[in-house]
Amino acid sequence: MASSPVGLLLLLLLLIITLATAPSVDVADGQALPGCQATCGTVSIPYPFGIGANCSRVGFEIACNDSTPFLSGTGYKVLNLSLAASGARLELPIAWTCYNRSGNPLPESEAPVSFNPQGVYRISDAHNQLVVIGCDVTAYTQSRYNDSTDVGYPYDYYTGCVSYCRGPEFVRDGLCAGVGCCRVDIPPDLTDNSIAMDDDGPDIRRLFYNFSPCSYGFLVDRNSYTFRRADLNMDKNQTMPVWLDWAIRPNGSSTFTCSDAMKDSSSYACKSQHSNCTNAANGPGYTCSCSRGYEGNAYIVGGCTDVNECLYPEKYPCHGVCRNTVGSYECRCQRGTHGNPLQDKCEPNLPRSARLTIGVVCGTSLIIILVILMAMMHHRRSLRAFFKRNGGPMLENINNIKIFTKEELNQITKNYSIVLGKGGFGEVYMGVTDDKQRVAVKRSISVDEARKKEFANEVIIQSRISHRNVVRLVGCCLEVDVPMLVYEFAPKGSLCDVLHGSKDNTKVSLPLGTRLDIAVDSAEALSYMHSSATQKILHGDVKSGNILLDENFMPKVSDFGTSRLLSIEKKTYHTRHRGYELHRPCVHEDRSS
Ligand SMILES: *[C@@H]1O[C@H](CO)[C@@H](O)[C@H](O)[C@H]1NC(C)=O
Ligand SMILES: *[C@@H]1O[C@H](CO)[C@@H](O)[C@H](O)[C@H]1NC(C)=O
Ligand SMILES: *[C@@H]1O[C@H](CO)[C@@H](O)[C@H](O)[C@H]1NC(C)=O
Ligand SMILES: *[C@@H]1O[C@H](CO)[C@@H](O)[C@H](O)[C@H]1NC(C)=O
Ligand SMILES: *[C@@H]1O[C@H](CO)[C@@H](O)[C@H](O)[C@H]1NC(C)=O
Ligand SMILES: *[C@@H]1O[C@H](CO)[C@@H](O)[C@H](O)[C@H]1NC(C)=O
Ligand SMILES: *[C@@H]1O[C@H](CO)[C@@H](O)[C@H](O)[C@H]1NC(C)=O
Ligand SMILES: *[C@@H]1O[C@H](CO)[C@@H](O)[C@H](O)[C@H]1NC(C)=O
Repeated sequence: MASSPVGLLLLLLLLIITLATAPSVDVADGQALPGCQATCGTVSIPYPFGIGANCSRVGFEIACNDSTPFLSGTGYKVLNLSLAASGARLELPIAWTCYNRSGNPLPESEAPVSFNPQGVYRISDAHNQLVVIGCDVTAYTQSRYNDSTDVGYPYDYYTGCVSYCRGPEFVRDGLCAGVGCCRVDIPPDLTDNSIAMDDDGPDIRRLFYNFSPCSYGFLVDRNSYTFRRADLNMDKNQTMPVWLDWAIRPNGSSTFTCSDAMKDSSSYACKSQHSNCTNAANGPGYTCSCSRGYEGNAYIVGGCTDVNECLYPEKYPCHGVCRNTVGSYECRCQRGTHGNPLQDKCEPNLPRSARLTIGVVCGTSLIIILVILMAMMHHRRSLRAFFKRNGGPMLENINNIKIFTKEELNQITKNYSIVLGKGGFGEVYMGVTDDKQRVAVKRSISVDEARKKEFANEVIIQSRISHRNVVRLVGCCLEVDVPMLVYEFAPKGSLCDVLHGSKDNTKVSLPLGTRLDIAVDSAEALSYMHSSATQKILHGDVKSGNILLDENFMPKVSDFGTSRLLSIEKKTYHTRHRGYELHRPCVHEDRSS
């Protein structure tokens, strides 16, 4: 299975799952020393606490018996352990004293507790109180036994309260204010405890026997105990939770601070590079914590690691873009906004009205550009449509004529300003090409489909003819409704004009030789078309109006609109009997009529 990639993948997955779910006693959130047990039952044991040899700092040893942690060397069960200064919560026994029916005392317990061989603990004055229960009792804690004091009492600290109740009906649940129950704050710096009780003697005690045969006293977590009337007769064996403050304190010293501790780096407990020393609030000594921006265990080398503040927005507020840095984090406004994102949302750099204006302007511009673009596209498309309809694709392949754009023709003819001729067929304009060649631009007026076919025909035919007596087709323009043709320019006009004259008074009296030359050259051109060209071409409309003359009166046969390539259509071709009218007056009649 492992040989296939899928098998390998599965194996890897299994490994990951196994690693992820394996009980990682050693590493558990990096709070215990490497190789040391990090939990006992449900209680985690962070260093400087520890279970077993070399796993704890001196004085912080924890015993783990049957998944239950105890302060080592004592019978006190540990409920909580944490790195907070008031981080150890123990179960401590309660003190009690009871009487028989005649009011005489029975054996009692002062519940002496001592858990402090190395002096690292103090009973937390901030989190505990002394509670006394009974109807005829004065009870007090006594702490720090000092045999050598001479002032009358052997303890350094005494504090307590009086509880009295004439009958059970005076006692109220939840009220610990001197009737059946009293409580009092305790002083700081208590290293141990025992509770002593005084009463009024058998004659008075007797009166209370029925509803209060015992009195009790105990230290207890302020948040963990609420007085009940039933507690006047409570279980003597029970324990109460008590918070201990712990700190790093040298054994025996009554004043010791961070600055003292830092003098000796070998015993200095704040081992992490990113740690901070704090003087203990209760008793001498100090505690360690991770510096700002770090979290973990300051008592272990490398124990404080960077906090990714961005993951805890409720603790590290950021109303902008959060970026974690080592030991801190950056909170910035998003591009285009400004403000203090640590406190409030960032404001856009531009006010609303400006953004609105920009939006409107941009939107309008966009629409305008779009319209222009669409118009341009439409224009191009219509040019292209004309080009296609006018036989453009067919003519594109003919390479010895130039296909002009509409724009080019506008320039060549100077916007059609010089008219050479006008007639039923359309108009002819004078033009000058870029290389100074004079041309005649012929624009038909008729738009019928037959004409368009003729047009394409003329172009094809002309493109195949190369003869000095045939008007040369320079090019054409297809991008217009009615296609236009560009011819070489014949300065003397048509033979008809020369023979018969026209309105421009172009009549010239030609000598006979010239006339004969014209006849012969024209005939030659026609003969060439009929027989010599690669394909037979019938002009179909030969007349003096279609024979143009250059400056030397050399004839140029023109107007191939009705010509046919014999090979294209049927071999039998009949003209429309419109040609050879050389002596008709020079009227440019409309052939479609
Ligand atoms: C504890 O540390 C001491 C000295 O550092 C060493 O001699 C001893 O073997 C260690 N004990 C264990 C159980 O590792
Ligand atoms: C563990 O607890 C059992 C009883 O619960 C007791 O007999 C035993 O002595 C304890 N062991 C240690 C090491 O405290
Ligand atoms: C102390 O431990 C108990 C369970 O043993 C847990 O319910 C409680 O929340 C802990 N208290 C604190 C302050 O950690
Ligand atoms: C109470 O104790 C005293 C002294 O121990 C004894 O004399 C007396 O008889 C006891 N009374 C009762 C009711 O047990
Ligand atoms: C006991 O009290 C005496 C006198 O007040 C003092 O000098 C001594 O340090 C005390 N001993 C302890 C262990 O606190
Ligand atoms: C209290 O503990 C003692 C021994 O530790 C036992 O004999 C006694 O029965 C216990 N009492 C109660 C009420 O649990
Ligand atoms: C210090 O620790 C030792 C045991 O290591 C203990 O005997 C002594 O009582 C402690 N206290 C003082 C004040 O030395
Ligand atoms: C160290 O802790 C003290 C008290 O908690 C604090 O005032 C101080 O700013 C801290 N220093 C550093 C560097 O974290």
